Amino acid sequence: MESFIRTLPKVELHVHIEGTLEPELMFELAQRNQIPLPYASVEEARAAYQFDDLQSFLDMYYLGAAVLQTEQDFYDLTWAYLLHCQQDHVMHTEIFFDPQTHTERGVSFQTVMAGITRALADGEQQLSISSRLIMCFLRHLSEEAAFETLAQAMSYQEYIIGVGLDSSEHGHPPEKFRRVFEKAHEAGFLTVAHAGEEGPASNIRDAMSMLRVSRIDHGVQCSQDPALVEELVRNQMPLTVCPLSNVQLRVFNRMADHNIIALLRKGVCVTINSDDPAYFGGYMTDNFLAVTAAFDVTKEEMAVFTANAIRASFLPDEEKAQLQ
Ligand code: HPA
Ligand code: ZN
Repeated sequence: MESFIRTLPKVELHVHIEGTLEPELMFELAQRNQIPLPYASVEEARAAYQFDDLQSFLDMYYLGAAVLQTEQDFYDLTWAYLLHCQQDHVMHTEIFFDPQTHTERGVSFQTVMAGITRALADGEQQLSISSRLIMCFLRHLSEEAAFETLAQAMSYQEYIIGVGLDSSEHGHPPEKFRRVFEKAHEAGFLTVAHAGEEGPASNIRDAMSMLRVSRIDHGVQCSQDPALVEELVRNQMPLTVCPLSNVQLRVFNRMADHNIIALLRKGVCVTINSDDPAYFGGYMTDNFLAVTAAFDVTKEEMAVFTANAIRASFLPDEEKAQLQ
């Protein structure tokens, strides 16, 4: 099983590029840019990665992102992630980025875009890894700030296929961004949203009805609402599930308690993803292996995760066919 998983072709649909910042690169960039870090060493940073919930993680994630300053920094970050993709047999990846995490610190939208897109172009050319970019709004910030961010994205529609919603789910329901997502749809962006990670199943329903999303990111709280699970099976709404993330953020106490295999066997279009691999202990292969270690699953079942991810991707049908 292990060698089967390692070489299984994979498609990633839920990864935050800022969450791929390994402590080694964080220290290198901190030195390059003369940014102080609250950790004395790489080891101390890694040891600090112990979380009680989503917010305790987000606090550290935003802190780490402060070392990202120049176009080259964003290039190096993205390139390092793509090398992990190559190692893990990830053929295609759809990457989230959080522009507000950077523009709020005075780093321009253009700097972020230029570094990420240059690395993605090199990844396509040199590693044959295809990719798409999805811009996330930070849901703890205002609707107005999201509208401003959307306005900036309008000049980059060639590079940004869709918009999403991340950060603190509690207290910031989908409804808060209904009008922003309306405008994003009008402009031709596809939409996704984090929903039902820590928040209630109703956030999943609301993301579908109010934000008209093409996929739900996480979505694991759907099990609180059996009628919703039936609906997810009927409409084949993809869930981009992140197993190691969910255990690290205590959405589930142990991997054996995770509902991903139960959802798969019910016929929900579930996929496996890494979320913030530098913080949660692993990339795509690690997430696949963690699931196989905790459940009695077959190779055929594990291969369904890739088939689901191809189907749920934002690639045109011809390119999906090439991945199969
Ligand atoms: N949830 C919400 N916001 C995030 C996450 C997540 O898992 N990762 C990075 N930002
Ligand atoms: Zn996420």
